Amino acid sequence: MNKVFPEFIHLQGKNSSLMLAFGQGAPQVIYWGKSLSKSTTPQMLTTLRIRQEVPASPAREAKRSLTTTTGEGFTGNPGIKLFGDDAQWAVATVVNDINQLSPHHVVITNWDEARKIALVHTIILDHQADVFSVDTQVTNKGTSPVNLEWCTAATLPVPASADQILGFEGHWAGEFHEQHVKQFFGSYLRENRRGRTSHDAFPGLIMHTKTCDQQQGEAYGFHLGWSGNHRLLSEKMADGRAFVQMGELLYPGEMSLTTNQSYQSPKLYASYTNQGLSGLSRQFHQYVRRNLLKYSALAKPRPVHYNTWEGIYFDHDVATLKDLANRACELGVERFVLDDGWFIGRNDDKAGLGDWYVDEGIYPDGLTPVIDHVNQLGMEFGLWFEPEMVNPDSNLYRAHPDWILSTPPNQDVGFRNQLVLDLTRDEVFDYLFERLDSLLSEYNIAYIKWDMNRDINQPGDQHFKPAVHRQTRALYRLLAKVKASHPNVEIESCSSGGARADYGVLEHTDRVWTSDSNDALERLKIQKGFSYFFPAELMGSHVGPRDCHITHRNLSMSMRASVVLFGHMGMEMDLRELTDDEKVELKAMVDLYKQHRALIHSGDLYRLSLPDYAMGVGMIAPDKSEALFSYSLIRSHTAGLPDQFKFEGLAPETLYKLHIIWPIRAGDFWPKSSIFNFDTNLPEMDGQVFSGEALMNLGKQLPRLAPNSALIYHLVAVE
Ligand code: DGJ
Repeated sequence: MNKVFPEFIHLQGKNSSLMLAFGQGAPQVIYWGKSLSKSTTPQMLTTLRIRQEVPASPAREAKRSLTTTTGEGFTGNPGIKLFGDDAQWAVATVVNDINQLSPHHVVITNWDEARKIALVHTIILDHQADVFSVDTQVTNKGTSPVNLEWCTAATLPVPASADQILGFEGHWAGEFHEQHVKQFFGSYLRENRRGRTSHDAFPGLIMHTKTCDQQQGEAYGFHLGWSGNHRLLSEKMADGRAFVQMGELLYPGEMSLTTNQSYQSPKLYASYTNQGLSGLSRQFHQYVRRNLLKYSALAKPRPVHYNTWEGIYFDHDVATLKDLANRACELGVERFVLDDGWFIGRNDDKAGLGDWYVDEGIYPDGLTPVIDHVNQLGMEFGLWFEPEMVNPDSNLYRAHPDWILSTPPNQDVGFRNQLVLDLTRDEVFDYLFERLDSLLSEYNIAYIKWDMNRDINQPGDQHFKPAVHRQTRALYRLLAKVKASHPNVEIESCSSGGARADYGVLEHTDRVWTSDSNDALERLKIQKGFSYFFPAELMGSHVGPRDCHITHRNLSMSMRASVVLFGHMGMEMDLRELTDDEKVELKAMVDLYKQHRALIHSGDLYRLSLPDYAMGVGMIAPDKSEALFSYSLIRSHTAGLPDQFKFEGLAPETLYKLHIIWPIRAGDFWPKSSIFNFDTNLPEMDGQVFSGEALMNLGKQLPRLAPNSALIYHLVAVE
């Protein structure tokens, strides 16, 4: 008996609708956009979509289905590419089961009887956040093996009006840079073969209309939750139809499926808004907060960090660390993180990785004296690891030179003097778990900074097979096992800065190290890019040294501290070098962060559209009762005075008391500007009450400021 299933399913979000159709052949999205009411029937949508036959084109256009196929005659990029001994390459499935598990959760099974291939699509909408996840599973039910080259998590349609591409590019210490490209016929394609999420090809993409800006307009956002290799594609076909695909980039021969074996794609997260690019980000932030984060920033505030890296690098000694801990404590730090350099042989970056035993030459009594000292000062203790790596100069490598990923006889390309351990081998996995478990059991460690400092350039396993897919899954398993055994330990995802930031790793981690650049001006760009898909509480953001170690730029403490408030705050410098004035300012920012972190870590983000010389963001309480806004002047403004500063996201008729809370209000720290009432009788703005609409529609005249300085405003609703 033929199964009966619906012809259409409408996944209804708060402000968006996704309509799926299951007519003949494969399933497809027939509408994705602004929320539809009950007046609209699926049949209306089907009729409105009817396209005529055009000369020199197929009589019947192949569908832009969830998995587009060559077998169905689709001439855009196929959603699946595979081959076997028979005709598997021409796979073309039909829907043979639909399981709607809830109004927002649907599982669609598709079957190709001729080639014995099954495809299962799972779509789960978070209707509050208006973000859905979609993935695809391929199963080979045939008797001969199938070689899978590509399987997109889904093919999602994009309307012709959303013809602007916002992608992300970058490099070490310069991650998440926005890249604006106008859509063209053909494919915008980003491929990542670095074996980690990468600095340069962040797996996120936004398609939006020309008139869309930060605060209004239509936009479609896409993010692949995967920490290995990936391929992102936004294609416009000659027939005018456009779509986005995202999936794992598989090496030749990496995914061979024997009978009954399946491949599971990573999840693609997608969202539609008509509230502009900031609105789209708020939806992704809400999704992350509701679905991925295990750590509730509201239940336990995110502590202020001190990280030793840029303070002492590899120069560890117990007395110095205790001294740094005392100084950190005086500044209000709540968690002390001991970075690279604590384990045997690790005097520089040439040796030691893999030997996860405390160096008794430096720490004769183990880490206990340092940890006890830190704990007695009331701070938590965190420790750095780089589990996936090994230095050739290590006991581990000398004992097990075969435990690495490589492609002999090819020579390793060389990368920070280290090689990648093959986590797909049980003995490697078990060794790493034992080391982590033993240290976490022995010591009072609240936090792991989990680093990964090289690409996987030559990812061959012991059988010479490409292993990035299995390595990535093994990494997730290792993280999950450590978490399961030590549920209270938080884990930060770090990879030479921000090369491992994605929703896949976030299922197992609690914070992201955004970038190795602590340069405040660089950070403004990096943090802006990061904010498209990640909420503020995940964004590790540290006040760095006076002279940035990477750009060598010298910036005031006031400027450096101003950029960390809208993230998860920390500091990372040699605290012994701070002047008294710098300590006063840094402590003031720690206090501000503590005072406002509940708002920042649960608030609604508004990126401001300011002239080129400035950058700014707002963070507004969901009930609009309170808000914070930053204004950073990057270079001199073009006119005698900067423009009016327009606030965003406030309740128009609510009255707000406005306070300037940064820079600190004390003698020398307060900007010498007439608007601040030093030598003028201009009316005092600070502490006055304004309506939300006046602040948003007219805005506030900004003062003259020196380039590289910042202001932070606090608004509180008054009765
Ligand atoms: C790269 C990280 O991004 C840095 O913060 C630091 O932990 C170093 N690795 C240590 O080797």
